[in-house]
Amino acid sequence: HSADAHRTDLMTITRFVLNEQSKHPESRGDFTILLSHIVLGCKFVCTAVNKAGLAKLIGLAGETNIQGEEQKKLDVLSNEVFIKALVSSGRTCILVSEENEDAIIVEPSKRGKYCVVFDPLDGSSNIDCGVSIGTIFGIYTLADVHEPTVEDVLLPGKKMVAAGYCMYGSSCTLVLSTGAGVNGFTLDPSLGEFILTHPDIKIPNKGKIYSVNEGNAKNWDGPTAAYVEKCKFPEDGSSPKSLRYIGSMVADVHRTLLYGGIFLYPGDKKNPNGKLRVLYEVFPMSFLMEQAGGQSFTGKERALDLVPTKLHERSPIFLGSYDDVEEIKTLYAAEG
Ligand code: AHG
Ligand code: MN
Ligand code: MN
Ligand code: MN
Repeated sequence: HSADAHRTDLMTITRFVLNEQSKHPESRGDFTILLSHIVLGCKFVCTAVNKAGLAKLIGLAGETNIQGEEQKKLDVLSNEVFIKALVSSGRTCILVSEENEDAIIVEPSKRGKYCVVFDPLDGSSNIDCGVSIGTIFGIYTLADVHEPTVEDVLLPGKKMVAAGYCMYGSSCTLVLSTGAGVNGFTLDPSLGEFILTHPDIKIPNKGKIYSVNEGNAKNWDGPTAAYVEKCKFPEDGSSPKSLRYIGSMVADVHRTLLYGGIFLYPGDKKNPNGKLRVLYEVFPMSFLMEQAGGQSFTGKERALDLVPTKLHERSPIFLGSYDDVEEIKTLYAAEG
C-alpha cells in the first residue's frame, strides 16, 4: 500500500493483541482484557514518573518493604496502581508483587484464571535522579480457578504465557511477548496509545557490551571474574567490550535486547543467590530474551527451568546475546 499508509494504519497494542488473540479462536478475550488493565497501569505510572519531581513524588515513603529496602513514594504508588488495575480487570486470582511480603489472593467475585507476578517500580534507586526506571511483569495461566494458594505461583518461568516490561525513560516503551516473539510499543502521549514501533525484536547473536556492577568484583566467583577479565583483556586480540551499567534492570535489559551484549547480576560470597528476584525480575526478562533469540542462565541451569520455592527467592542471572551467554556457560561448566 502507499508509503504513508503506515501513518494512518496505527497498530496500537490493543489492536496487536486482538490480532494475536484471533489466532486462538478458543480464547474469550480474557488475556486482551487483562493486558488492557496492565497497559492502563503503565500509562498511569508513566504520568506519575514524568511529573514526580514536580508533584513531590520523589523521596522516601517512610516505610520498609519485605526486601528490607526503604520504599520510595513511587514504589508505593506504583504498587497500589497495579494491584488495583489487576484486581479490577476481573481476570486474575493471585498476584505477587516485589512490594508485598505475601501473595495477594483476589476476592472470589473478581477472580479470573491468570496469576500476575510484578515489580511495580524497578530501579528505585534511580528515581530521585531522573534516570530510567520501569515496571516488569510475568503472567501464568492457572489450570483451574480453585482457592488459590502460594503453591500455585511457585512455577518455573517456562510456564509463563506472557511477560513484559515498561520503561519510563526519554519515551515510555512497553516490550511484550505472548510466546510468539517480542514486540515493542511506544506511548504516543497525544493519543494516549501505545503504538507498535519495534516489531519482532531479535537480539544480535553476539554483542560488544557487558553490563555488570563492577563494584562487586571483590566478591565474584571464579567463572564470573574470568569472564569479565576476558571482556576487558580479550586473549584473541579482539577489541575489549564496552561496559554499560545503568542500575535499573529494565534499562540495562532493554539496551541489551536492542544492541546485543550480556547483562550479569552474579552471585557472590556475600549473596550467593545474587540480588535479582526470580519470579518478577529473572523470569520475565529471561522469557523475553529467549523469545528474542537470546538466552538466560543462572550459573547452574537455564533460568526458565528454575523452580522457585519462595515468593521472593533470588538467583544469579546471566542473560543476553546467545553466543555471549554460551561463553559464560562454558566457564561455569569447566568449574564443574
Ligand atoms: P528494584 O528497584 O525493583 O528493587 O530493583 C533494583 C535492581 C535492578 O533494577 C538493578 O538491576 C539492580 O537492582 C541494581 O543493583 P545494584 O545497585 O546492586 O547494582
Ligand atoms: Mn526494590
Ligand atoms: Mn526490580
Ligand atoms: Mn522494584
